[in-house]
Amino acid sequence: MKIAVIGTGYVGLVTGTCLAETGNNVICVDIVEEKVNKMKAGQLPIYEPGLDVLFHRNIAQNRLSFTTNLAEGIKDAQIIFMALPTPPGGDGAADLSYILGAAKDIAKLIIEYKVIVNKSTVPVGTADKVAAVFAANTNVEVDVVSNPEFLREGVAVDDFMKPDRVVIGTTSEKAKKLMGELYAPYVRQGNPIYYMDERSSELTKYAANSFLATKITFMNEIANLCEIVGADVDMVRKGIGSDDRIGKRFLFPGIGYGGSCFPKDVQALEKAAVEHQYDFKILKAVMDVNEKQKTVLTEKVLKYFKGDLKGKKFALWGLAFKPETDDIREAPALYIIDDLLAAGAEVTVFDPEAIGNVKALVGDKINYANDQYEALEGADALLIATEWSVFRNPDFEKMDEVLKSKVVFDGRNLFDLQKMIDLGYYYNSIGRKI
Ligand code: UGA
Repeated sequence: MKIAVIGTGYVGLVTGTCLAETGNNVICVDIVEEKVNKMKAGQLPIYEPGLDVLFHRNIAQNRLSFTTNLAEGIKDAQIIFMALPTPPGGDGAADLSYILGAAKDIAKLIIEYKVIVNKSTVPVGTADKVAAVFAANTNVEVDVVSNPEFLREGVAVDDFMKPDRVVIGTTSEKAKKLMGELYAPYVRQGNPIYYMDERSSELTKYAANSFLATKITFMNEIANLCEIVGADVDMVRKGIGSDDRIGKRFLFPGIGYGGSCFPKDVQALEKAAVEHQYDFKILKAVMDVNEKQKTVLTEKVLKYFKGDLKGKKFALWGLAFKPETDDIREAPALYIIDDLLAAGAEVTVFDPEAIGNVKALVGDKINYANDQYEALEGADALLIATEWSVFRNPDFEKMDEVLKSKVVFDGRNLFDLQKMIDLGYYYNSIGRKI
């Protein structure tokens, strides 16, 4: 099939590349000329494991191309995906101006039937709004479909190629048929495609992310309680996770969920509920608890150093909001850096992928190490904010040589408690004994 993808952010680029991989002809359109030129030259603008191989292969075989010219991009496309940003507006509700703007531009250019797909995370009712924009700007028939993405950064290629499910929101038989054909190669193992109306599809996406954020937040509260009552959250996690109804995944406590999706989507769903005069109490609590959870590690540090961090040196391992990404949006590490600097401490950071992004944002207020051990030189304590694999089994002898004090505050529960005691560390993690 011939496909256009409007917007080459993380979702658009993964979608476009993975759609090309099953033999479709995909043109990705973006307004940022510099980015398009780079992609034309074979440079990937994001770090996403496994994407580079597919990206280069499909460019080489002329199935994947890039343009800044919308007319050229959509001319032959049967299906047009919109993967555009929906940032929180001033009031927390999703800002639809990019999507509605693009819809208007597309409407003015088309001369034959197209399926228009909302891939971005959008509030309930957006498909109707997009359809209204088309109706106002063209007489050409279109079907507007909601097709939310469930891609996790770091494993997005796998999530796209082998999805747990595909959700297609449309009441048009014609669009249903085309979308079904497009996704058939991805569900060969028997995973379902769920066809539903546009509104149910739009809400499915928000409900999924908000439920997962709630699950994590619940575990964060259990972890906090564990510390108070002297229980071990790792035990509790295993104890409840083996019940299929609860499930083992997404039960890991930490220093609050971050990233570009959960914080934004929980906020947007709560806001949408308010707009419909519904008081979504759980979501308010989730946001509230998550805000507090981001400060848990610094509070532990402050308590240990009796409130005085002036002149103290801290090493921070992990900046990305989670491993296998360079994404630092809403990353707990950024809050930790701010808190430590505000308390007069010196901070040296290391991350396998995200240092460039943090440098661009934070500048020379902190020090950047070339490797995880260099970050520890002369440090009064090590703080861990991201569970990169490379941090899981460090060379403790090397750590001992460079750390000033054997003190670790671990926001991701990477190490075995007994091991840390045996090695002579003061080790403070989340929801476990000190
Ligand atoms: C999330 C969803 O998992 C995807 O299904 C969805 O498509 C995507 O948002 C989106 O809407 O685009 P992502 O933001 O990449 O994906 O990251 P997750 O792996 O879900 O992690 C989100 C946050 O939760 C991270 O800060 C992570 O550290 C935290 N987390 C996750 C925990 O604290 N504990 C856990 O057990 C799992």
